[in-house]
Parts: sequence; C-alpha cells; structure tokens
Amino acid sequence: MKILVVGSGGREHAIAWRLAQDKEGHELYCAPGNAGTAAVATNVAIAADDIEGIAAWATVNHPDLVVVGPEAPLVKGLVDALQGIGVTAFGPVAAGARMEGSKRFAKEVMDAAGVPTGKAEVFTDAAAAKAALLSFGLPVVIKADGLAAGKGVIVAETTADAEAAIDDMLVGNKFGAAGAEVLIEEFLHGEECSILALVDGENAVLLPSSQDHKRVFDGDKGPNTGGMGAYSPAPVVTADKLPEIKEKIILPVVRELKKRGITYRGVLYAGLMVNDANSNPHGPLAKSGSTVNVVEFNARFGDPETEAVLPRLGGSFATALLHAATGRLKDEDVVVKDEAAATVIVASGGYPGSYEKGKAITGLSEAAETGAIVFHCGTKTADGNILTSGGRVLSVTGMGATLREAVDKAYAGVGKIAFDKMFYRKDIAHRAFDRG
Ligand code: AMP
Ligand code: GLY
Repeated sequence: MKILVVGSGGREHAIAWRLAQDKEGHELYCAPGNAGTAAVATNVAIAADDIEGIAAWATVNHPDLVVVGPEAPLVKGLVDALQGIGVTAFGPVAAGARMEGSKRFAKEVMDAAGVPTGKAEVFTDAAAAKAALLSFGLPVVIKADGLAAGKGVIVAETTADAEAAIDDMLVGNKFGAAGAEVLIEEFLHGEECSILALVDGENAVLLPSSQDHKRVFDGDKGPNTGGMGAYSPAPVVTADKLPEIKEKIILPVVRELKKRGITYRGVLYAGLMVNDANSNPHGPLAKSGSTVNVVEFNARFGDPETEAVLPRLGGSFATALLHAATGRLKDEDVVVKDEAAATVIVASGGYPGSYEKGKAITGLSEAAETGAIVFHCGTKTADGNILTSGGRVLSVTGMGATLREAVDKAYAGVGKIAFDKMFYRKDIAHRAFDRG
C-alpha cells in the first residue's frame, strides 16, 4: 500500500517503523517526519497541521491510506478534508476528535453513555466555581476544557491551590479560549494505565495495555511531561478487566457518538484509573462505584505508549488500520506477540521547561546494535549529523520474554547514546517491579 503518516514525533516514527515491518511491503511517506522516519519512509516537507497542504499532496499522490498521528490536525479536520476528496484516512473526524479536544464534551458523552468517570461540574464564572469546591473535598482536580498542551490539568491538594488554578484559567486567561470553561473534577485514587483501542465506527479491538510515566524525574517527582517512558503490558490491567473496559467504556462511547451522528474511526485512547486490590496505591473508591474509571480520552495513539505497544503487534498493521478506517475491523486484525516491551525517553536538559536544541547525538548505531529499537522524537539532520530538535529527543525500546529483560535491553541501548545535557528516567516500569 501507499501510505502517508502525518506527524513528526516518536509516535509517528513507531507507526512508520511498524508499517515497514509488514511482510507485504509498503511505499511509505511521512509529513513532515524527522531524522528517524527518513530511514523507513520518504519525508515530505508539509507541516502536520497544514490541512490544505496535506490534502493537496494526497490529491496528487493518491495514497491508499493516510494515518494521522497527532491531535491538532484531527481537531482541525484533516480527516474530514481527506474524506471530502475521497482519500481513506485513519483517525476520527473533527467532531469525534472533540473527545480529546473538549473535556466538557467528553464528560457529556460519558455521562450519556453511562461510562464510569470522575464526577465533574463545568464553570465559566470563578466565584461560582470556588463556591462549588467545598462539595468536592480534597484533593480536587481543576481542568481547562480545551487543548492546553498537557498543562491544563491541576491536581490541587489545598483549597488555595484549587482557587489559584480557577483564577488562572477564568480570570487570568492563562490558557486563552481553552480555559474559558473549567471543569472541577473528583480526584480518582489508584494507578493509571492506557488502553489504546482501534475503532471502526461500530466495533473496537483493544491493543495491549500500557503504562506511561508522566512526571519528569525518578520516583514520579517533578512536573508533568508528555511522558518519560512506557511499558507494555501493564500488570495493573489484569486479564479480567479487558472485556469490562471494552464493553463498559470503549463501545458505549462509540455507540453514543454514533447516536449523535459521529462515526468514530481511528484510535480511541482511554486514560484509566484502576483502583482495586491489584492497583498501587489504593485509596477510597470513586463515587461511580467502579474500580476502573476514565481519566481522559484521547483521539490518537499515545506517545510514548505507541513506542512500547506497536513493537508487540504481529500480522499486518496496515491492514488493521485500513480495516478500522473503512468500517471492517475484526478481532483477527490485531495479533499480539507474547513479549514485553519498554521504552525510555531520552530528553534535553530543562525539559519540560525550556531547553537547548541543535546538539549532536552520538551512539545511535551502537544503540541499535544492542538490539534496542531507537525511535526519534525530536531530531533533525544537518550536514549528515543527527541533531536534537525537541525536548523529548529519542524513545529507546527494548523487547524481551519478561518485562525485566525488555527494560534491561532498553537501558543497554540508552547507555550507548550521548548528547550535551541529555537525561532520562532510570526507573521505567517501577510500578510493575514494585509488585515483587
Ligand atoms: P489529563 O490531561 O486529563 O490526562 O490529566 C493529566 C493527569 O492529571 C492525568 O494523567 C492524571 O495523572 C491526573 N488527573 C487528571 N484527572 C484526574 C482525576 N480525576 N483524578 C486523579 N488524577 C487525575
Ligand atoms: N502519553 C500520554 C499521551 O499521549 O497523551
């Protein structure tokens, strides 16, 4: 197949890399891609959110499939535009991408579909929001309605912090339009995990479970990031939970969207909080009474979850994506290898705050020789050298018969890599290992 992957991060490198593993062989393109995607695809110099540019490329080049990686082009209607010119695209239409683009909309859909999630109320007025705080108790979660680059969620331990977050969003306009509506949400106790489901408008097939590491430093300390590493499977998602997640969370949302005239095709990513005897740490049960609650939905593959989950998939990945994009998805389309995977993000000093770019990266081929897979997140090529060009620079994945082997392999790869001010977390998968 002729396939265009849209995006330029580790997720898109992993998607392109996994498509390149398909036995049937594909003609792969990536827009705009990075130094890593250039090794498995032809990079096309069009920005991921340049809807007209991508549609124009597709008009000329007739891809069999366009796979959209990031949320921004989905929310902006790239899939709608491609459908409009008869191009098959993997990803939801803009109305479906609101599951990620508007937390208020996602809550409305969940409530209508009876999906377990934290109890929440929406406010546009700061005084009214503050008056409501008392009924939520502490900690409490304050969320901007719209996309705020991962910064629009504050878990407040004190009333003063919660009030400050409300003021920042509703009075100080900190997130602009994205924060013009604020959700106050019940704090959910337990352990988080990610479930990425392929959805074809009606049916869904769950990909293997994974867990992300959102905080920047070891021991889950420091500010939130886009994710500092991930592993799959996540032992907190015991086998008995998968049918429950599919039947009580994913499918009810897909059906509710259908009822609203939205055919959701692509990935529905459920960020879940699990709170049962197998989770770590425990706490009071959520008001919903369910041991699995939705923290958030995303309309795309997770990053870095994708770099740990996709290497575990066998079969034809292109066929699975095409079947989802055309309403023909079957359980057999997803083949899972009996191996564990772990990925470690190698980042630029200062991330998630400000950081320098343009540092030469050494040891990439030595890292590959260890058997690790090196995905590029923020890199570029200049005069034949590979340079850093982002906060998250590389995502180094190891595979193994056990999670321990996978983690060791990933770190063996990371150990070969160097650039000025590089850092990474040394405790990826610690929650799995903490179980003993
Ligand atoms: P979100 O962008 O909605 O995923 O929120 C970012 C992070 O904030 C999540 O990954 C959780 O760690 C935390 N968070 C969000 N909502 C809640 C909640 N209701 N209870 C506990 N933690 C939450
Ligand atoms: N790893 C979290 C996300 O992709 O949103």
